[in-house]
Amino acid sequence: MAFTILRLALALLVAAVSTQALKRDGRALGSASLRSPLHRVEVEDPKTVTHTDGTALPPYDTVYYFDQLIDHSNPDLGTFQQRYWHTYEFYEPGGPITLFLTGETNADGFYGYLTNGTFPGQISQQQQGASIVLEHRFFGESNPYSDLSESSLEVLTIQQSIDDLEYFARNVNLPMPNGANLGPDKAPWILVGGSYGGALTAWTMVNKPGLFYAGYASSAVVQASTYFWQYYDIIRQFMPQNCSADVQAVIERVDATFTSGSSAEIDDLKNNFGLQDMTHLDDVASALRFNFGSWQDLTPYSDETTGGSAFFDFCDALEVKDGVSSDENGWGLEYALPAWGNYWKTTYYPSICGGANAEDCLGTYNPNAYTSTAVDNWVRSWEWLICNEMGFFQDGAPSGTPTIVSRLLSPVYEERLCTYYFPNKFSTATDPRADATNTAYGGWDLNVDRLFFANGKRDPWRDATTSSDSHTRESTGLMPVAESDGFHCTDLISEAGELDDTVRAVQQQALSSLAAWLGAWQPAEQDESERRGRRRSAKFSPGR
Ligand SMILES: *[C@@H]1O[C@H](CO)[C@@H](O)[C@H](O)[C@H]1NC(C)=O
Ligand SMILES: *[C@@H]1O[C@H](CO)[C@@H](O)[C@H](O)[C@H]1NC(C)=O
Repeated sequence: MAFTILRLALALLVAAVSTQALKRDGRALGSASLRSPLHRVEVEDPKTVTHTDGTALPPYDTVYYFDQLIDHSNPDLGTFQQRYWHTYEFYEPGGPITLFLTGETNADGFYGYLTNGTFPGQISQQQQGASIVLEHRFFGESNPYSDLSESSLEVLTIQQSIDDLEYFARNVNLPMPNGANLGPDKAPWILVGGSYGGALTAWTMVNKPGLFYAGYASSAVVQASTYFWQYYDIIRQFMPQNCSADVQAVIERVDATFTSGSSAEIDDLKNNFGLQDMTHLDDVASALRFNFGSWQDLTPYSDETTGGSAFFDFCDALEVKDGVSSDENGWGLEYALPAWGNYWKTTYYPSICGGANAEDCLGTYNPNAYTSTAVDNWVRSWEWLICNEMGFFQDGAPSGTPTIVSRLLSPVYEERLCTYYFPNKFSTATDPRADATNTAYGGWDLNVDRLFFANGKRDPWRDATTSSDSHTRESTGLMPVAESDGFHCTDLISEAGELDDTVRAVQQQALSSLAAWLGAWQPAEQDESERRGRRRSAKFSPGR
């Protein structure tokens, strides 16, 4: 895959994501927590797919539909069409079926995850398997009902989404030779996902023991939590330290002024960022955390030199004075405050709000702004999942811990939005059922055989993964936990492994674990004599 093409695609994607992420129901996003996590991977010629034996196969972008149950606890309600993409370019009889979960996004354009430009595609190539990319219920065009009203969303739960995977695996008639006879009792299925999709991978293997033979969970956020301040704490620790120091100084001033400054001091500070028209101080404080949102989009191929990231533009604005960078202590508040303000007014605000009024663009207090129930609105569907079951509200650190985000922001800020989106479900700001989710699916303490966890040291979501600083899981042979220097879901991209040895090492370790596990696979429902006769041998060719 050409480098430049991928980079261009990513640049376009990041642009698309920021527009989408910053507009909800025609207004700006009030919570910086909402970014669609997976990078799309461009395929140079999606129309031309050839089996390793030379046969022409359907294009990667062919859309297939599966009749999925609307409600697994009430099958009489019927079915809806769930979209998926599929190829068997590397498949040989006996090979595995790799099922990739796109999670909380419209899966259009994610067929790149069928190809060996991504890790799930590498699994299929190495193991001579077939590949599937499956859209999550209530995202994109996979909708049980024609709207995202609260009554429709009652069947948007983690458990229904897990049940979808079982029903799909057991009943799908795959568009390939013998495709009706490749269920998980006849072929080893490998579940793969990143971020929430990675958590779903792990939670499914906990909830449906033995259904999926093996799994690969990238940056899997297995531990739900309401108050997820650690998200920004990872960024604080791993961002350029001069920028981190100066941001902390500015935020300390913001908090002191907004909690106990005079009204003239408060007005001055709002003016500094050109946000004098905003009504609510917590909205002003929230807007400032938008500058850190692009950190999770970083990859080994987006750094300062490749001009890939808004994050570095932001830090350069604070730290480069007359062509000179500050040392690791930063320039201090007196320089950083106006420098950040200037960057906001001249560069950042126009990029996210254009010419719009600040209250219209960034304010979150108008309950009427969240009422659209049109389908294919990933922000609304994701809000439903986090407001109910996961939380992950990314706020300021508790006092006593350094912070790059205002302490005015606590889960109540996001829970208020839940009451606007779903007024019948949440009449008051309520904590999500994160504890119940962790109890049901194991959280940090889950144990499952043949599940590989791939995490990134600089991933802002790392504290919700099995590589959390506060709850690091020991890596074992049957549940390996591997950490690269990467960011969020970095290891899902093949090219990231070509550029970063630590990412490559994780990918290679996972490929050998999977090869060893698959070598021992046996079909479930055969008697012992048949089983002995048909045992597969491992298909593993180390290196590339
Ligand atoms: C993908 O497969 C092709 C051959 O089909 C190979 O040339 C290429 O190196 C592979 N890429 C990766 C990243 O494994
Ligand atoms: C200081 O900031 C500049 C500009 O963002 C960055 O390139 C550099 O790595 C930083 N240096 C330190 C020591 O933090």
